[in-house]
Amino acid sequence: MSTTFDVAAARERFPALKQDQVFLDNAGGSQTLGDVIDSITQYLSKTNVQLGASYHTGTLSNTKYEEGYTSAATYMNASRDEIVIGASTTQLFMNLSAALKIPPGSEIVLSKMEHETNVKPWVHLADRLNLTIKWWESPKPELKLTAENLKPLLGPKVKFVACTHVSNILGGIHDVRAIADVVHEAGALFCVDGVSFAPHRRVDVKAFGVDFYAFSWYKVYGPHVAVLYASTAAQEHVKSLSHYFNPTKTLEDKLGFAGSNYEAVQSIPRIVEYLEGKDEGITAHEGKLQAVLLDFLNSREDITVLGSTSADPAVRVPTISFVVQGRNSREIVEQADKVSNFGFRWGHFYSKRLCDEVLGLGAEGVVRVSMVHYNTEDEIRGLVETLKKILS
Ligand SMILES: Cc1ncc(COP(=O)(O)O)c(C=O)c1O
Repeated sequence: MSTTFDVAAARERFPALKQDQVFLDNAGGSQTLGDVIDSITQYLSKTNVQLGASYHTGTLSNTKYEEGYTSAATYMNASRDEIVIGASTTQLFMNLSAALKIPPGSEIVLSKMEHETNVKPWVHLADRLNLTIKWWESPKPELKLTAENLKPLLGPKVKFVACTHVSNILGGIHDVRAIADVVHEAGALFCVDGVSFAPHRRVDVKAFGVDFYAFSWYKVYGPHVAVLYASTAAQEHVKSLSHYFNPTKTLEDKLGFAGSNYEAVQSIPRIVEYLEGKDEGITAHEGKLQAVLLDFLNSREDITVLGSTSADPAVRVPTISFVVQGRNSREIVEQADKVSNFGFRWGHFYSKRLCDEVLGLGAEGVVRVSMVHYNTEDEIRGLVETLKKILS
């Protein structure tokens, strides 16, 4: 494993990066690997038949789809039976919420630091099963969910806890292992939204100690599908939503319905191959990118970075949001659009409870710059120069 990272070589692998646009809304969606694009074209051109058949082309399709599943499972250190691939993380959490067995009258703990994807399904669950919701938050300036600030909310009636691994606004990495340990001591299940973590660091569900974990491949250089993990033990609490005559053994059996998007699933091995051996290099490179932007933002009295101001890659990923005193976030982004090719955004990014109730922001929310490993230090220096002009 190497901490040196060849960003030029990485960029060569993404056809979209050959145009005059700097992509800085990667937390919204990353660019797609060329190998993924080619593999989808090949699949649709030659092997696009209904799965399960025994004729020649059918067996090729079955194998490719199966390789997609096993590759995704191995990548996140899960077994084949512990994952299901579906349309989106939102859809998969909604499916899980329709299938989860929690004793009526129990309590669940939900965080206010979330994308709504990891809230709405559990509010729906609470309505369906008459559960009481307890809200978990960490005030400014810490804005960090920890085992310590969760503990006062836990008790014998709590049966389910959900939080994000990394907020799509704040960028700080939560210690989900420590949180999982206290959740399990309390006898509850733990569900983590890994969508903002997965593009930056290796997912290892066993090391995290979580019961449920999901992320979206379209933010991890792939196509528009997502994956949900449920440990074998946690699947005891998941009833099958499949047709009565279908098997119910695996998570895919229980929540997969009619099969995932074939061409997208079978392209996952290309992402996994690409990322292989790059973990430490990506972390180190992203640390440099976030240092360039944070050095500027932290140097300005009129700018508040939301969440950690540290550029330490052990503390945060390069999803950085800020507000500027006396300026609205929308106007800053619109001015940048007019004078530059830097593509970043303003808003609440579906983390509305966080923006309204915890951060107390106005309707325009934050300015968010979200970088990934294929961005360059030169790009971020250029962005800083643009921001200096706009904010002068
Ligand atoms: C942290 C986080 N969770 C969940 C989602 C939703 O993912 P999906 O579009 O796959 O439902 C997003 C999308 O932006 C996100 O940033």
